[in-house]
Amino acid sequence: MGAGPAGLLLGQLLHKEGVDTLILERRSAQYVAGRVRAGVLEPGTVGVLERAGVAGRLRAEGLTHDGVEIGFRGRRHRIALKALTGKSVTVYGQTEVTRDLMEARAAAGAPSFYEVEDVQLHEITGARPRVTYRHAGSTHEVDCDFIAGCDGFHGVSRRSIPAAALSICERVYPFGWLGVLADVPPPWEELIYANSERGFALASLRSPTRVRCYLQCSLEDRVEQWSDGQFWDEFRLRMGEEIGARVQTAPSLEKSFAPLRSFVAEPLRYGRLFLAGDAAHIVPPTGAKGLNLAVSDVHYLYEALCGFYGEASERSLAEYSDRALRRIWRAERFSWWMTRQLHRFPGDEFDARLQQTELEYLFESQTAQANLAENYVGLPL
Ligand code: FAD
Ligand code: PHB
Repeated sequence: MGAGPAGLLLGQLLHKEGVDTLILERRSAQYVAGRVRAGVLEPGTVGVLERAGVAGRLRAEGLTHDGVEIGFRGRRHRIALKALTGKSVTVYGQTEVTRDLMEARAAAGAPSFYEVEDVQLHEITGARPRVTYRHAGSTHEVDCDFIAGCDGFHGVSRRSIPAAALSICERVYPFGWLGVLADVPPPWEELIYANSERGFALASLRSPTRVRCYLQCSLEDRVEQWSDGQFWDEFRLRMGEEIGARVQTAPSLEKSFAPLRSFVAEPLRYGRLFLAGDAAHIVPPTGAKGLNLAVSDVHYLYEALCGFYGEASERSLAEYSDRALRRIWRAERFSWWMTRQLHRFPGDEFDARLQQTELEYLFESQTAQANLAENYVGLPL
């Protein structure tokens, strides 16, 4: 279920093992391919994409980053990812990952149906679950061994599990991110996460000629209220004088708003339905973990399914949820921590002083920097 990165990647990995898959997607292929989202890949994610045989363009065009910067009180502090962990991250947009996966699936001749409607899951706890859906005006039914619920936070898979069988943990933050994509060369070499008095801002990029920038904004803000000019003026102020003076502007290619949320539904299995990616969990984007976590879930699910087909045993299927959740909760912790330290929160002076203390400690302590770096480049799969 779902042709996001999780569904497409699982399909590709299973195709290489000779397992037949069918992908059902609610949106059009064009919509899925054009959706602008994440941009930072952990080395473990790159490894899984290599195993899936879809890393050719990523290796040629992805940008290797050995550090990130954190701005606070007018100064920038570098976290030396490579020096502290031996690992780097790769800047390569989710749109590119999706395009590579879609092309590989088309080349493999594996079936995907886009713009399907009224998807329903049946007999999930039986040995032969079924999915019904409408496509191009007619109703269809598929039966299968397993359903992989990779249909994102608003998908049908998680909602098909009885409420009593799921435990939900959630935290909603009192702000969102406004993101802009624009064709100008980035005047920063590495990503800058800035905690400014005016609110958080992130300077990211997609290529040597394209920037992706974000501003913390109010949940009441609407994209239409922010002209390009207002966005860039505010971005300059939050980035500080040195970077602010060098920022070039261009009309936005895309502008979107995303509320920030932490969310985990567990376990990730109900009968023959397995949840992976945003269908099961959401992290606030401050740790750059959403896409990476979808890929690690898929890696574990792929191994569980290989165990089932290879050894005719249910053991690996039974272990999937616990294996994936261990890593999910660590990424939840890190994403919450980054969000907590880098944004401006309404609240009392005690919280504000703790945030300041935490950041000052981070800038002075190699151990604290190593902790951030280890989590940012991704814990082992
Ligand atoms: P998705 O990419 O959501 O894919 C799920 C797919 O299922 C979608 O194509 C959807 O159309 C389809 N679907 C839904 N319902 C159905 C149905 N009933 N039937 C069939 N198909 C269905 N992460 C970052 O690290 N950095 C970011 O800047 C960032 N920005 C984001 C902005 C937004 C607006 C969102 C929603 C997420 C963002 N993320 C970001 C998170 C990251 O993009 C996700 O974690 C990642 O896309 C998860 O992949 P996925 O395949 O699990 O889910
Ligand atoms: C992005 O480039 O879109 C991006 C990078 C890092 C983040 C979030 C988003 O933490």
